[in-house]
Amino acid sequence: MSAIEQDPVCLVRGSINIDEFFDVPQIVRPGQTISATSTSKRLGGKGANQAKAAASAGAVVLMDGAVGRGTEGKEVIDELCGPLRGVPDVGVDTQSGGEGRILENRIRVWQEGSTGKAMIQRAQDGENSIIILAGANFSEPSTPYTPLVPANTTHLLLANEIPFQSTLDYLSAAASAPSKVTSIYNPSPMPSADQLRAFPWHQVDWLIVNEGELGDIAGSVFDSSSVEPDIRTAVDSLTKASAHDKVDEKAAIKVAQSLHSLVPRLAESQSGRTINIICTLGAKGVLYVRSSTTSAPITKRLASAKLLRPIKDTTGAGDCFTGYLAAGLMRLQQEGKSADDEEAFEGVVKRCLTACSICVENEGAQDSYGTIAQVEARLA
Ligand code: ADP
Ligand code: NA
Repeated sequence: MSAIEQDPVCLVRGSINIDEFFDVPQIVRPGQTISATSTSKRLGGKGANQAKAAASAGAVVLMDGAVGRGTEGKEVIDELCGPLRGVPDVGVDTQSGGEGRILENRIRVWQEGSTGKAMIQRAQDGENSIIILAGANFSEPSTPYTPLVPANTTHLLLANEIPFQSTLDYLSAAASAPSKVTSIYNPSPMPSADQLRAFPWHQVDWLIVNEGELGDIAGSVFDSSSVEPDIRTAVDSLTKASAHDKVDEKAAIKVAQSLHSLVPRLAESQSGRTINIICTLGAKGVLYVRSSTTSAPITKRLASAKLLRPIKDTTGAGDCFTGYLAAGLMRLQQEGKSADDEEAFEGVVKRCLTACSICVENEGAQDSYGTIAQVEARLA
Protein backbone atom coordinates (compact mmCIF):
# COMPACT_ATOMS: atom_id res chain seq x y z
CA MET A 1 0.00 0.00 0.00
CA SER A 2 1.41 3.41 -0.90
CA ALA A 3 1.97 6.19 1.59
CA ILE A 4 -0.87 8.14 0.01
CA GLU A 5 -3.34 5.39 0.75
CA GLN A 6 -2.37 5.38 4.41
CA ASP A 7 -2.71 9.12 4.93
CA PRO A 8 -5.82 10.12 6.89
CA VAL A 9 -8.52 10.86 4.33
CA CYS A 10 -11.70 12.86 4.22
CA LEU A 11 -14.23 10.66 2.45
CA VAL A 12 -16.62 12.74 0.35
CA ARG A 13 -19.67 10.77 -0.76
CA GLY A 14 -21.51 13.10 -3.08
CA SER A 15 -22.52 14.43 -6.44
CA ILE A 16 -20.44 15.35 -9.46
CA ASN A 17 -22.00 17.52 -12.17
CA ILE A 18 -21.06 19.33 -15.31
CA ASP A 19 -22.63 22.79 -15.23
CA GLU A 20 -23.31 24.07 -18.75
CA PHE A 21 -24.03 27.79 -18.98
CA PHE A 22 -25.82 29.41 -21.90
CA ASP A 23 -25.85 33.21 -21.95
CA VAL A 24 -29.10 34.31 -23.57
CA PRO A 25 -30.87 37.64 -24.19
CA GLN A 26 -33.85 36.33 -22.24
CA ILE A 27 -34.98 32.96 -20.87
CA VAL A 28 -36.43 30.90 -23.72
CA ARG A 29 -40.25 30.72 -23.84
CA PRO A 30 -42.20 27.52 -24.61
CA GLY A 31 -42.06 26.84 -28.35
CA GLN A 32 -39.37 29.46 -28.91
CA THR A 33 -35.85 28.92 -30.28
CA ILE A 34 -33.19 31.47 -29.44
CA SER A 35 -29.43 31.79 -29.89
CA ALA A 36 -27.03 31.88 -26.99
CA THR A 37 -24.44 34.64 -27.15
CA SER A 38 -21.87 32.49 -25.38
CA THR A 39 -21.52 29.23 -23.54
CA SER A 40 -19.20 27.78 -20.93
CA LYS A 41 -18.76 24.60 -18.94
CA ARG A 42 -17.70 24.16 -15.34
CA LEU A 43 -17.37 21.32 -12.93
CA GLY A 44 -20.01 21.42 -10.22
CA GLY A 45 -22.17 19.30 -7.96
CA LYS A 46 -22.10 19.78 -4.20
CA GLY A 47 -19.96 16.70 -3.60
CA ALA A 48 -17.33 17.76 -6.12
CA ASN A 49 -17.41 21.36 -4.86
CA GLN A 50 -16.91 20.31 -1.25
CA ALA A 51 -14.17 17.86 -2.25
CA LYS A 52 -12.35 20.61 -4.13
CA ALA A 53 -12.70 23.02 -1.21
CA ALA A 54 -11.38 20.43 1.28
CA ALA A 55 -8.42 19.60 -0.98
CA SER A 56 -7.69 23.32 -1.52
CA ALA A 57 -7.66 23.60 2.27
CA GLY A 58 -4.97 20.93 2.42
CA ALA A 59 -6.91 17.71 2.99
CA VAL A 60 -6.39 14.41 1.24
CA VAL A 61 -9.86 13.69 -0.10
CA LEU A 62 -11.25 10.40 -1.30
CA MET A 63 -14.04 11.27 -3.73
CA ASP A 64 -16.82 8.70 -3.72
CA GLY A 65 -19.19 9.56 -6.52
CA ALA A 66 -20.10 8.57 -10.04
CA VAL A 67 -19.67 9.89 -13.56
CA GLY A 68 -21.02 8.74 -16.91
CA ARG A 69 -19.24 6.67 -19.51
CA GLY A 70 -16.93 7.78 -22.28
CA THR A 71 -14.51 10.62 -22.70
CA GLU A 72 -16.80 13.09 -20.95
CA GLY A 73 -16.73 11.10 -17.71
CA LYS A 74 -12.97 10.60 -18.05
CA GLU A 75 -12.38 14.34 -18.55
CA VAL A 76 -14.42 15.10 -15.44
CA ILE A 77 -12.29 12.75 -13.35
CA ASP A 78 -9.07 14.19 -14.80
CA GLU A 79 -10.12 17.75 -14.03
CA LEU A 80 -11.50 17.02 -10.56
CA CYS A 81 -8.51 14.99 -9.47
CA GLY A 82 -5.90 17.01 -11.37
CA PRO A 83 -3.58 19.65 -9.94
CA LEU A 84 -5.17 22.33 -7.75
CA ARG A 85 -5.29 25.68 -9.47
CA GLY A 86 -6.03 28.10 -6.66
CA VAL A 87 -7.37 31.51 -7.60
CA PRO A 88 -5.06 33.35 -9.98
CA ASP A 89 -5.89 36.94 -9.04
CA VAL A 90 -5.68 36.86 -5.29
CA GLY A 91 -2.14 38.14 -5.37
CA VAL A 92 -0.43 35.28 -3.56
CA ASP A 93 2.09 33.41 -5.59
CA THR A 94 1.03 29.85 -4.91
CA GLN A 95 -0.96 27.13 -6.56
CA SER A 96 -0.57 24.80 -3.66
CA GLY A 97 -3.17 23.43 -1.29
CA GLY A 98 -0.37 22.03 0.83
CA GLU A 99 -0.67 18.28 0.80
CA GLY A 100 -4.24 18.58 -0.44
CA ARG A 101 -5.47 16.48 -3.35
CA ILE A 102 -8.46 14.49 -4.52
CA LEU A 103 -8.03 10.75 -4.93
CA GLU A 104 -10.11 9.19 -7.69
CA ASN A 105 -10.03 5.51 -6.80
CA ARG A 106 -13.62 5.56 -5.56
CA ILE A 107 -15.17 7.39 -8.53
CA ARG A 108 -17.38 4.92 -10.36
CA VAL A 109 -18.14 5.04 -14.07
CA TRP A 110 -21.80 4.41 -14.85
CA GLN A 111 -21.68 2.51 -18.11
CA GLU A 112 -25.32 3.05 -19.07
CA GLY A 113 -25.56 6.80 -19.14
CA SER A 114 -24.46 10.36 -18.63
CA THR A 115 -22.57 12.30 -16.00
CA GLY A 116 -24.91 14.50 -13.92
CA LYS A 117 -25.58 17.83 -15.62
CA ALA A 118 -27.04 21.22 -14.98
CA MET A 119 -28.10 23.27 -18.01
CA ILE A 120 -28.25 26.89 -16.94
CA GLN A 121 -29.75 29.68 -19.01
CA ARG A 122 -28.34 33.02 -17.87
CA ALA A 123 -30.34 35.99 -19.11
CA GLN A 124 -29.00 39.53 -19.48
CA ASP A 125 -31.21 40.79 -16.64
CA GLY A 126 -29.63 38.30 -14.23
CA GLU A 127 -32.58 35.89 -14.30
CA ASN A 128 -31.68 32.24 -14.66
CA SER A 129 -33.39 28.97 -15.37
CA ILE A 130 -31.90 25.56 -14.65
CA ILE A 131 -32.50 21.99 -15.80
CA ILE A 132 -30.83 19.23 -13.78
CA LEU A 133 -30.03 15.74 -15.03
CA ALA A 134 -29.18 13.59 -12.02
CA GLY A 135 -27.50 11.04 -14.31
CA ALA A 136 -24.75 8.96 -12.75
CA ASN A 137 -25.27 10.58 -9.32
CA PHE A 138 -28.51 8.65 -8.93
CA SER A 139 -27.59 5.53 -10.85
CA GLU A 140 -28.20 2.44 -8.76
CA PRO A 141 -26.06 -0.52 -9.67
CA SER A 142 -27.84 -3.84 -10.16
CA THR A 143 -26.19 -5.24 -7.07
CA PRO A 144 -26.65 -2.95 -4.05
CA TYR A 145 -23.70 -0.66 -3.63
CA THR A 146 -21.95 -1.29 -0.33
CA PRO A 147 -20.69 1.82 1.36
CA LEU A 148 -17.01 1.44 1.92
CA VAL A 149 -15.37 3.55 4.58
CA PRO A 150 -11.64 2.80 4.33
CA ALA A 151 -9.77 2.36 7.60
CA ASN A 152 -7.79 5.58 7.10
CA THR A 153 -11.00 7.68 6.92
CA THR A 154 -11.09 10.19 9.76
CA HIS A 155 -13.85 12.45 8.38
CA LEU A 156 -16.92 11.85 6.23
CA LEU A 157 -18.55 14.63 4.27
CA LEU A 158 -22.10 14.23 2.98
CA ALA A 159 -24.42 16.62 1.19
CA ASN A 160 -27.47 15.22 -0.53
CA GLU A 161 -27.76 15.23 -4.36
CA ILE A 162 -27.31 11.43 -4.19
CA PRO A 163 -29.93 8.75 -3.37
CA PHE A 164 -31.15 9.45 0.18
CA GLN A 165 -30.55 5.82 1.13
CA SER A 166 -26.89 6.24 0.24
CA THR A 167 -26.59 9.15 2.71
CA LEU A 168 -28.12 6.93 5.41
CA ASP A 169 -25.91 3.96 4.50
CA TYR A 170 -22.72 6.02 4.69
CA LEU A 171 -23.65 7.61 8.02
CA SER A 172 -24.33 4.20 9.43
CA ALA A 173 -21.14 2.68 7.99
CA ALA A 174 -19.12 5.54 9.48
CA ALA A 175 -20.84 5.16 12.85
CA SER A 176 -19.88 1.50 13.04
CA ALA A 177 -16.31 1.94 11.75
CA PRO A 178 -13.68 0.50 14.11
CA SER A 179 -12.08 3.89 14.75
CA LYS A 180 -13.93 7.18 15.14
CA VAL A 181 -15.06 8.84 11.89
CA THR A 182 -16.27 12.42 12.30
CA SER A 183 -19.33 12.95 10.13
CA ILE A 184 -20.21 16.30 8.60
CA TYR A 185 -23.62 16.66 6.99
CA ASN A 186 -24.92 19.47 4.81
CA PRO A 187 -28.58 18.62 4.05
CA SER A 188 -28.97 20.27 0.68
CA PRO A 189 -31.32 19.78 -1.09
CA MET A 190 -33.47 19.32 2.00
CA PRO A 191 -34.92 15.86 2.69
CA SER A 192 -38.70 15.60 3.19
CA ALA A 193 -40.28 16.33 6.58
CA ASP A 194 -40.80 12.60 7.17
CA GLN A 195 -37.18 11.84 6.27
CA LEU A 196 -36.03 14.60 8.64
CA ARG A 197 -38.15 13.27 11.51
CA ALA A 198 -36.75 9.75 11.07
CA PHE A 199 -33.19 10.95 10.42
CA PRO A 200 -30.33 9.39 12.46
CA TRP A 201 -29.20 12.73 13.89
CA HIS A 202 -27.13 10.90 16.50
CA GLN A 203 -24.83 9.75 13.68
CA VAL A 204 -24.06 13.36 12.67
CA ASP A 205 -21.23 15.19 14.44
CA TRP A 206 -21.44 18.46 12.53
CA LEU A 207 -24.57 19.75 10.87
CA ILE A 208 -23.91 22.58 8.42
CA VAL A 209 -26.91 24.59 7.25
CA ASN A 210 -27.89 28.05 6.16
CA GLU A 211 -30.64 29.79 8.10
CA GLY A 212 -33.44 28.64 5.79
CA GLU A 213 -32.27 25.02 6.09
CA LEU A 214 -32.06 25.40 9.88
CA GLY A 215 -35.69 26.57 9.90
CA ASP A 216 -36.77 23.67 7.67
CA ILE A 217 -35.15 21.07 9.91
CA ALA A 218 -36.44 22.60 13.14
CA GLY A 219 -39.91 22.96 11.65
CA SER A 220 -39.94 19.22 10.93
CA VAL A 221 -38.29 17.73 14.01
CA PHE A 222 -39.66 19.99 16.76
CA ASP A 223 -42.78 18.42 18.16
CA SER A 224 -45.34 21.18 17.64
CA SER A 225 -47.27 20.30 20.79
CA SER A 226 -44.32 20.73 23.14
CA VAL A 227 -42.33 23.50 21.51
CA GLU A 228 -42.48 26.90 23.20
CA PRO A 229 -44.37 29.59 21.28
CA ASP A 230 -41.33 31.89 20.99
CA ILE A 231 -39.30 29.07 19.40
CA ARG A 232 -42.15 28.37 16.99
CA THR A 233 -42.18 32.06 16.01
CA ALA A 234 -38.40 31.97 15.51
CA VAL A 235 -38.68 28.89 13.26
CA ASP A 236 -41.38 30.61 11.22
CA SER A 237 -39.25 33.71 10.74
CA LEU A 238 -36.37 31.54 9.39
CA THR A 239 -38.49 29.58 6.95
CA LYS A 240 -40.25 32.71 5.69
CA ALA A 241 -37.12 34.79 5.09
CA SER A 242 -36.32 34.46 1.42
CA ALA A 243 -32.93 36.15 1.31
CA HIS A 244 -29.89 36.33 3.56
CA ASP A 245 -30.18 40.09 4.09
CA LYS A 246 -33.43 39.54 5.93
CA VAL A 247 -31.86 37.02 8.32
CA ASP A 248 -33.19 37.24 11.83
CA GLU A 249 -29.97 36.40 13.70
CA LYS A 250 -31.63 36.21 17.10
CA ALA A 251 -34.15 33.73 15.73
CA ALA A 252 -31.37 31.66 14.16
CA ILE A 253 -29.46 31.51 17.47
CA LYS A 254 -32.59 30.54 19.39
CA VAL A 255 -33.50 27.79 16.93
CA ALA A 256 -29.93 26.43 16.67
CA GLN A 257 -29.72 26.24 20.48
CA SER A 258 -33.09 24.45 20.74
CA LEU A 259 -32.13 21.98 18.00
CA HIS A 260 -28.78 21.38 19.70
CA SER A 261 -30.45 20.52 22.98
CA LEU A 262 -33.17 18.43 21.35
CA VAL A 263 -30.97 16.03 19.35
CA PRO A 264 -29.67 13.94 22.29
CA ARG A 265 -33.28 13.52 23.45
CA LEU A 266 -34.71 12.32 20.12
CA ALA A 267 -36.04 8.77 20.24
CA GLU A 268 -33.46 7.46 17.78
CA SER A 269 -30.54 8.83 19.76
CA GLN A 270 -30.23 6.09 22.32
CA SER A 271 -26.55 6.85 22.60
CA GLY A 272 -27.29 10.38 23.81
CA ARG A 273 -24.70 11.62 21.37
CA THR A 274 -24.72 15.36 20.77
CA ILE A 275 -24.56 17.29 17.56
CA ASN A 276 -22.71 20.48 16.68
CA ILE A 277 -24.56 22.99 14.54
CA ILE A 278 -23.04 25.54 12.20
CA CYS A 279 -25.36 27.96 10.44
CA THR A 280 -23.94 30.16 7.69
CA LEU A 281 -25.63 33.55 7.34
CA GLY A 282 -24.55 34.78 3.91
CA ALA A 283 -22.96 38.25 4.11
CA LYS A 284 -23.50 38.18 7.87
CA GLY A 285 -21.05 35.33 8.42
CA VAL A 286 -21.81 32.38 10.64
CA LEU A 287 -23.08 31.20 14.00
CA TYR A 288 -22.36 27.96 15.76
CA VAL A 289 -23.64 26.02 18.71
CA ARG A 290 -21.24 23.30 19.67
CA SER A 291 -20.99 20.80 22.47
CA SER A 292 -18.23 21.00 25.01
CA THR A 293 -16.91 18.25 27.24
CA THR A 294 -15.91 20.78 29.89
CA SER A 295 -18.69 23.37 29.89
CA ALA A 296 -22.21 24.18 28.75
CA PRO A 297 -22.67 24.27 24.95
CA ILE A 298 -20.86 27.17 23.32
CA THR A 299 -22.74 29.58 21.08
CA LYS A 300 -20.75 31.99 18.96
CA ARG A 301 -21.44 34.41 16.16
CA LEU A 302 -18.62 35.42 13.81
CA ALA A 303 -18.85 38.13 11.14
CA SER A 304 -17.85 37.27 7.57
CA ALA A 305 -14.24 37.99 6.63
CA LYS A 306 -13.39 41.32 5.05
CA LEU A 307 -13.75 41.43 1.27
CA LEU A 308 -10.74 42.82 -0.58
CA ARG A 309 -12.70 43.19 -3.81
CA PRO A 310 -16.37 43.57 -4.79
CA ILE A 311 -18.62 40.53 -4.74
CA LYS A 312 -18.67 38.75 -8.08
CA ASP A 313 -20.34 35.36 -7.65
CA THR A 314 -21.55 33.67 -4.46
CA THR A 315 -22.16 30.29 -6.19
CA GLY A 316 -20.68 27.46 -4.15
CA ALA A 317 -19.88 29.65 -1.10
CA GLY A 318 -21.68 27.26 1.27
CA ASP A 319 -19.76 24.32 -0.25
CA CYS A 320 -16.51 26.24 0.19
CA PHE A 321 -17.30 26.69 3.88
CA THR A 322 -18.16 23.00 4.31
CA GLY A 323 -15.02 21.68 2.58
CA TYR A 324 -12.78 24.08 4.48
CA LEU A 325 -14.43 23.05 7.75
CA ALA A 326 -13.81 19.35 7.11
CA ALA A 327 -10.16 20.02 6.27
CA GLY A 328 -9.80 22.31 9.30
CA LEU A 329 -11.22 19.69 11.67
CA MET A 330 -8.86 17.12 10.15
CA ARG A 331 -5.90 19.41 10.70
CA LEU A 332 -6.90 19.99 14.34
CA GLN A 333 -6.99 16.25 14.87
CA GLN A 334 -3.65 15.74 13.17
CA GLU A 335 -2.16 18.43 15.43
CA GLY A 336 -3.50 16.55 18.44
CA LYS A 337 -6.05 19.28 19.24
CA SER A 338 -9.77 18.90 19.67
CA ALA A 339 -12.67 21.04 18.52
CA ASP A 340 -13.24 21.49 22.25
CA ASP A 341 -10.33 23.89 22.24
CA GLU A 342 -12.38 27.00 21.49
CA GLU A 343 -9.47 29.14 20.37
CA ALA A 344 -8.33 26.45 17.94
CA PHE A 345 -11.85 25.82 16.69
CA GLU A 346 -12.53 29.52 16.18
CA GLY A 347 -9.33 29.61 14.10
CA VAL A 348 -10.74 26.86 11.88
CA VAL A 349 -13.98 28.79 11.36
CA LYS A 350 -12.11 32.00 10.57
CA ARG A 351 -10.20 30.17 7.85
CA CYS A 352 -13.53 28.96 6.45
CA LEU A 353 -14.88 32.53 6.41
CA THR A 354 -11.74 33.88 4.74
CA ALA A 355 -11.92 31.13 2.10
CA CYS A 356 -15.55 32.13 1.51
CA SER A 357 -14.57 35.77 0.98
CA ILE A 358 -12.11 34.72 -1.72
CA CYS A 359 -14.86 32.52 -3.20
CA VAL A 360 -17.46 35.29 -3.48
CA GLU A 361 -14.94 37.73 -4.98
CA ASN A 362 -14.29 35.34 -7.87
CA GLU A 363 -16.37 33.90 -10.68
CA GLY A 364 -17.64 30.35 -10.46
CA ALA A 365 -17.76 27.80 -7.65
CA GLN A 366 -14.73 25.46 -7.68
CA ASP A 367 -12.80 27.93 -9.84
CA SER A 368 -13.15 30.49 -7.04
CA TYR A 369 -11.72 28.42 -4.20
CA GLY A 370 -8.43 29.78 -2.91
CA THR A 371 -5.82 27.49 -1.40
CA ILE A 372 -4.96 27.35 2.28
CA ALA A 373 -1.78 29.34 1.51
CA GLN A 374 -3.91 32.10 0.00
CA VAL A 375 -6.21 32.04 3.01
CA GLU A 376 -3.29 32.14 5.47
CA ALA A 377 -1.81 35.09 3.56
CA ARG A 378 -5.00 37.08 4.12
CA LEU A 379 -5.03 36.24 7.81
CA ALA A 380 -1.37 37.11 8.34
P1 ADP B 1 -25.23 28.95 1.27
O1 ADP B 1 -24.73 29.12 -0.13
O2 ADP B 1 -25.17 27.53 1.75
O3 ADP B 1 -26.53 29.63 1.56
P2 ADP B 1 -24.01 31.22 2.51
O4 ADP B 1 -24.65 32.07 1.49
O5 ADP B 1 -24.41 31.42 3.93
O6 ADP B 1 -24.12 29.68 2.17
O7 ADP B 1 -22.45 31.49 2.35
C1 ADP B 1 -21.44 30.85 3.07
C2 ADP B 1 -20.40 31.87 3.48
O8 ADP B 1 -19.97 32.63 2.33
C3 ADP B 1 -20.90 32.91 4.47
O9 ADP B 1 -20.76 32.44 5.79
C4 ADP B 1 -20.00 34.10 4.17
O10 ADP B 1 -18.76 33.95 4.83
C5 ADP B 1 -19.76 33.99 2.66
N1 ADP B 1 -20.72 34.82 1.92
C6 ADP B 1 -21.81 34.39 1.24
N2 ADP B 1 -22.47 35.43 0.67
C7 ADP B 1 -21.78 36.53 0.99
C8 ADP B 1 -21.92 37.92 0.71
N3 ADP B 1 -22.96 38.38 -0.02
N4 ADP B 1 -20.99 38.77 1.21
C9 ADP B 1 -19.95 38.33 1.94
N5 ADP B 1 -19.76 37.05 2.26
C10 ADP B 1 -20.64 36.15 1.78
NA1 NA C 1 -17.58 32.33 -6.51
